[in-house]
Amino acid sequence: MMLANVIFIFMWIFHSWDVGVLCADLPETVLSTEQIHHHIKRFSGLYTGPYFDPATTTNITTQLGTHAYLPCKVKQLGNKSVSWIRRRDAHILTVDRYTFIADDRFQAFLVEATDTWTLQIKYVQARDGGQYECQVSTEPKMSHFITLNVVVPKVEILGEADIYVKAGSTVHLKCVITQSLEEPAYIFWYHDGARVLDYVRTEIDIKTERVGSDTTVGTLTIYEAQRKNSGNFTCQPSNLDSASVLLHVLNGEHPAAMQRGKNSASPIPGRWWGPLSAGLGLSACLRPRTAAAAVLVIGIAGHILFT
Ligand SMILES: *[C@@H]1O[C@H](CO)[C@@H](O)[C@H](O)[C@H]1NC(C)=O
Ligand SMILES: *[C@@H]1O[C@H](CO)[C@@H](O)[C@H](O)[C@H]1NC(C)=O
Ligand SMILES: *[C@@H]1O[C@H](CO)[C@@H](O)[C@H](O)[C@H]1NC(C)=O
Repeated sequence: MMLANVIFIFMWIFHSWDVGVLCADLPETVLSTEQIHHHIKRFSGLYTGPYFDPATTTNITTQLGTHAYLPCKVKQLGNKSVSWIRRRDAHILTVDRYTFIADDRFQAFLVEATDTWTLQIKYVQARDGGQYECQVSTEPKMSHFITLNVVVPKVEILGEADIYVKAGSTVHLKCVITQSLEEPAYIFWYHDGARVLDYVRTEIDIKTERVGSDTTVGTLTIYEAQRKNSGNFTCQPSNLDSASVLLHVLNGEHPAAMQRGKNSASPIPGRWWGPLSAGLGLSACLRPRTAAAAVLVIGIAGHILFT
C-alpha cells in the first residue's frame, strides 16, 4: 500500500514536471510552426496545399488587336478556385470557368496537363494594359501578378497629307506599319470609303511586304492616274488604326496650281516664278537629276529672257 502511494506520488510529480515542460515549450513550438513548414518546403519540396509554379511569367507583351494569354500555373490546386482580377479597378474578371465581367473578350480556361489557368483577353485594346492578379481561394488568399504590356503599332502613309500628281503619271501610295510584333493579316485600301480592288493589275496594283522584324509596307500603285482617281485614300490594316491621304490628280492645269495648293505662301519672287514653275511642272515627268537640271536651265533662261 505504502509502495503504491509512493509510486503514485512519483508518477504525479513526473507528470506535472512533464506537463510543465510541455507548457513552457508550447509558445515556442507555435511560433516555429511556420519556420518548420518553410523548412519542409525548402528542403523536401513538400507542399500541403496549392502553390504557384515559380517559373510562371510575370510580364506579357501583346500587340493591339491580337489575343493576350495570361498564364497562372498553380500546383496542387485541389478543390480551390482560381480568380482573375484586374488591378486597375479591382474588377473580378473570372472565377474558374465563369466570366464575371460584361465584356465577352475575357475568358479563363484550364489546361490540366500543365495545371495552368489562363486568362484570355481577345482583341486587346490599349486600355487593357496593366496589372492582373491570379488569386487562389486559400485562407489567406494567394496571389500571383502579371503585367500586360500592349504594343500599339504605328500606321502612316508616307509623304504629305495632300499628294498632287499629273494626270497620266504613276502613283505609289506607301502605307508603313511599324512596331508591329505580328504582320497584319491584311491591309485594305479605301477610296472615298469604297474598298479598292486590284482586279485589273494594269490599272491598280496592291502589294503587302514585310520588311524587317516589326515593319510592314503596303503599296497601292495607280498606273496612268486620272482625275477620277482623286480623293481620300485610306490604308486600313486588320485590327489596327487607319491612315489617310488626299490624292489630287491634275488635268492640264497650270503646274503653279499644284504648287499653290501645297504651299500658297511662295517665297519665290513673281519674276522667277513663271519659268521656275514651268520647270517644276516639267520635272514631275522626269527623273530627279534630269528634273533638277531642267529646273535650273529653264529658270536661268527665263531670268535672262525676262530681265
Ligand atoms: C516587360 O516586357 C516589356 C517588353 O518586352 C519590357 O519593356 C519591360 O521592361 C518588361 N518589364 C519587366 C518588369 O520585366
Ligand atoms: C475541399 O476539400 C476539403 C477536403 O479535401 C473539404 O474539407 C472542403 O470542404 C472542400 N471545400 C470545398 C469548398 O468543397
Ligand atoms: C479620309 O477618310 C477617312 C476614313 O473615312 C477619314 O477618317 C478621314 O478623315 C478622311 N480624310 C480627309 C482628309 O477627308
